[in-house]
Amino acid sequence: MASAPISLSTHCCSSSSAYSNSSSIWSHQNPINFPFPAASPKPKYASLQFKGNAFPNVVFMQDGAWTATVAGLENEAPSKNLKDGLTSVALPKEKNQIGNFDVNDDKSTVSITVVGASGDLAKKKIFPALFALYYEDCLPEHFTIFGYARSKMTDAELRDMVSRTLTCRIDKRENCGEKMEQFLQRCFYHSGQYDSQENFAELDKALKEHEAGRVSNRLFYLSIPPNIFVDAVKCASLSATASAGWTRVIVEKPFGRDSESSAALTKSLKQYLTEDQIFRIDHYLGKELVENLSVLRFSNLIFEPLWSRQYIRNVQLIFSEDFGTEGRGGYFDHYGIMRDIMQNHLLQILALFAMETPVSLDAEDIRNEKVKVLRSMRPIRADDVIIGQYKSHTKGGVSYPGYTDDKTVPKDSLTPTFAAAALFIDNARWDGVPFLMKAGKALHDKRAEIRVQFRNVPGNLYNRNSGTDLDQATNELVIRVQPDEAIYLKINNKVPGLGMRLDQSNLNLLYKARYSKEIPDAYERLLLDAVEGERRLFIRSDELDAAWALFTPVLKNLEENRKVPEYYPYGSRGPVGAHYLAARYNVKWGDLGVDE
Ligand code: NDP
Ligand code: BG6
Repeated sequence: MASAPISLSTHCCSSSSAYSNSSSIWSHQNPINFPFPAASPKPKYASLQFKGNAFPNVVFMQDGAWTATVAGLENEAPSKNLKDGLTSVALPKEKNQIGNFDVNDDKSTVSITVVGASGDLAKKKIFPALFALYYEDCLPEHFTIFGYARSKMTDAELRDMVSRTLTCRIDKRENCGEKMEQFLQRCFYHSGQYDSQENFAELDKALKEHEAGRVSNRLFYLSIPPNIFVDAVKCASLSATASAGWTRVIVEKPFGRDSESSAALTKSLKQYLTEDQIFRIDHYLGKELVENLSVLRFSNLIFEPLWSRQYIRNVQLIFSEDFGTEGRGGYFDHYGIMRDIMQNHLLQILALFAMETPVSLDAEDIRNEKVKVLRSMRPIRADDVIIGQYKSHTKGGVSYPGYTDDKTVPKDSLTPTFAAAALFIDNARWDGVPFLMKAGKALHDKRAEIRVQFRNVPGNLYNRNSGTDLDQATNELVIRVQPDEAIYLKINNKVPGLGMRLDQSNLNLLYKARYSKEIPDAYERLLLDAVEGERRLFIRSDELDAAWALFTPVLKNLEENRKVPEYYPYGSRGPVGAHYLAARYNVKWGDLGVDE
């Protein structure tokens, strides 16, 4: 009998489960596990035996995805190309049930509740990401989305609010309006207090009506200020937990503001949830180029051998925004840029960048390696941190406000809106290599990038011909996370012609030139992973503890000594102190070079 390949995942873009050592094909009720020994390479072919013997099946890896060969489906099932080399075949009704595995699992449902649905993040990121997943057929067949907040709203008003931020960015040609309408019909709203078990019990009742007797799986997204996380978790867990399926909670940052408050938050959350149910989000981990870091390093022989103190002179992690804290000053003043960006987004990138090869791509193996990096880090010296705060500035007749001009910020606030720091990893691979971080708001441009500056070529033959100082013109690998995602490598090259003159040129992988498909928003990837129970891109509690253990002492030092930030004009390149800090370690910031 000939055979047709089908995707066993009900998710078109399910990539994550293919990473797991013990992969579980997505099905709430009937997960199928592949218990490969952790250290062994993944097999190319695996045989999957379903209960019952309805069809002979073979599962094989194709483009990183699990697919199955189901005999006898050719010519009778409409197929759809999901991604390169992977085809999904909708099974005819009578063949939906393969043995004990229900391909179009009709008996379970996923309810996603956005707690704080009236807020900025929900509107800007969460609902649009859910729509994008729906548009790409990545959500399960039966799903419902509920908005929950104190504001009074009807379903229609929620839909109206949500519809204003939905965009058909994926493929403008294909019936987007229709899809939007279908999506909105699956969105509902329930108004309630965050600390009312009664209100959550009403939500539970409303969810049950939509779940219509199916096995319910519930995802709560806490898109609310951190001081009400625990109240909401308590009420959700006591009054609205899924009765038969899983219950998961996505917790937004900030996870505390130092070691003590973070530990207290974790302790409180764990009164109601197990660690496995808590999905601490760091949306930078969902960004395409951050996700690609490990691929770049571990699947290209040319990079991994260079990834150490032997060849790398310094690593720079740079975040800048060309706007201030507009609208979020109240939140920001309590945290500052080091907690807002460095302790989480930049530190997470650093850990991924510097970790040893994990045993596998399984979430726990990756997080084990990241936590080792974090725990190997040298305490940050207060001298190795410089802080700044933006002040008002007028340019081209336009006047830009200073940080303390924000009405929600105290006039005498010393909260840093800019910081640069030198960090070190005291292990054999990275001993002595400065990892320089720089993060700031209201700077001259918006970017997030990783810069790897390599050592100079010893005894360089071309020193005389170059016309430039080859000690300075060393190779630099730049991973531009945003905007305009790119990976480029600066090399020394001969300028064409009869002479022998060198210049620096780029080997350039610009994503928009290479790939036509638009890059998904980080929240799409993370929401999909949370629905699928994939934890690789979420922060485990020991990672969080290690991150706070690193930053808490230096933050306390700066705050107790009321260190005054260096003021920099809105829209400038930031305080000069950042240059002195880099110079102390013989480093020049790559983003401020002449060709940047
Ligand atoms: P908002 O300040 O917009 O708050 C979300 C909702 O929570 C509000 O609409 C409001 O709903 C309710 N709320 C606000 N303040 C209080 C309060 N003091 N007591 C009780 N309820 C309150 O937050 P965001 O949407 O900006 O962010 C949500 C979470 O995500 C926060 O933890 C934030 O730190 C984090 N985050 C936000 C980002 C962003 O870009 N906005 C980026 C990264 C993280 P209602 O009054 O209707 O109940
Ligand atoms: C958030 C910070 O975590 O990340 C914000 O709280 C910051 O201050 C934002 O603006 C940046 O995210 P992105 O994805 O726009 O770079």
